[in-house]
Amino acid sequence: MSEPKSSQERAKKYLDLGHSEAENHAKTQLELYEKHVKDTSSVTNAISEFFKTNLFGFAWHYLRSRFGPRHPYQAYPRNDDSGVYNLQSSIASRDEITLALLSDWASDTEESDRVAHLVAKHIPDYTIHMGDIYFVGAPKEVEENFTAPYASWYYGASGSLALSGNHEMYSNGNAFFQHLLPAMYIQQGDVRKTQQAGFFCLENDYWRIIGLDTGYTSVGRPFVEILSPPDCHLKKEQMDWLRDVVNIGNPDDKRGLLFLSHHPYISAFREDYARPGEQIRELLGASERPVIWLWGHDHRLVVYNQGRNGKGPLAYGRCLGHGGLPVEIQMPDPTDASKIRYYDRRVRKVLKGHALGYNGFAMLSLSNEKLTIAYRDLEDTCVLTEQWKVDMQNGQLGWEVIQVLPELAV
Ligand SMILES: [Fe+2]
Repeated sequence: MSEPKSSQERAKKYLDLGHSEAENHAKTQLELYEKHVKDTSSVTNAISEFFKTNLFGFAWHYLRSRFGPRHPYQAYPRNDDSGVYNLQSSIASRDEITLALLSDWASDTEESDRVAHLVAKHIPDYTIHMGDIYFVGAPKEVEENFTAPYASWYYGASGSLALSGNHEMYSNGNAFFQHLLPAMYIQQGDVRKTQQAGFFCLENDYWRIIGLDTGYTSVGRPFVEILSPPDCHLKKEQMDWLRDVVNIGNPDDKRGLLFLSHHPYISAFREDYARPGEQIRELLGASERPVIWLWGHDHRLVVYNQGRNGKGPLAYGRCLGHGGLPVEIQMPDPTDASKIRYYDRRVRKVLKGHALGYNGFAMLSLSNEKLTIAYRDLEDTCVLTEQWKVDMQNGQLGWEVIQVLPELAV
């Protein structure tokens, strides 16, 4: 649990959160300023602190991020690590493997704390943060959410891993690579390995869970972005790894494929990104196997109809960006709404005239051919449970809904 705070005040800052770097830097600086005001009795002092921390700090942060260099990319092999790991249960007598997935969670809100405490209650073997540390992935923000003694992130006994979102890259990825990844790890037998890069593959005899880095290429550079907007493409190092180390194009490998990324492959609400999917399909070759793809970025819980974007693979797409930020529940335009199968639009509370939905996370359970995902909200209600079964002869996926709240139907 973090320092005492007014959850309402904290949540309000995230309402109407823009996606520009400038706005997010401004909000980070505002947080610093408010802390100074709280710690200062003199008004004069507070005003001078405002200029010092907010205005100049903002300008410096913003300019440095816009023109400064990105943190160097990290890829496998690195420190004798291939980035491919065997899934293992943290309880010797249990065959089932469980993973909790949280996206857009790291907001240090009352809601994110509640979601994390709920994750802890379910004791998953693995926990994965699928990106976006608010506001700009600064060292302090990594600390507040993940590494401080009072931070609420739950570390799975078998592993705890992170993907980068766009917000981490608003500060050039420095804190992501230098502070967050060193705190993340994977257990291989009795050996604990530190996460070495912003992507990874977890696998067993039936499933491969591949975390993709779409964050590093999601933020453009000044001027260049006008001619060439960021497309979240997979960098060459990641493509080489997928092709040569993960070997996802192996036609004899019929294991079920589950992709995780921060950025949406499909969205009914805002921009989606076809390029990573097209790159994946190039590597998959002639195979027409469907894949499962989970992402965040949109602050809501959405189950999409099976579909594809551009020349990407046929995918069961799910958006679980409802980890910690105020959850959006508006419907998209009718033409886009047809992409949606289920959507959690239940109103949890109204704040400043905004109807907000339920935060939550996804709990995956792997049991031989079966993969089950239970979506739980912050009150521990299971809003939807779905299950896939992979046919190990041809890699095809059977899908069924086990349980769903009637309100989620679209
Ligand atoms: Fe995002």
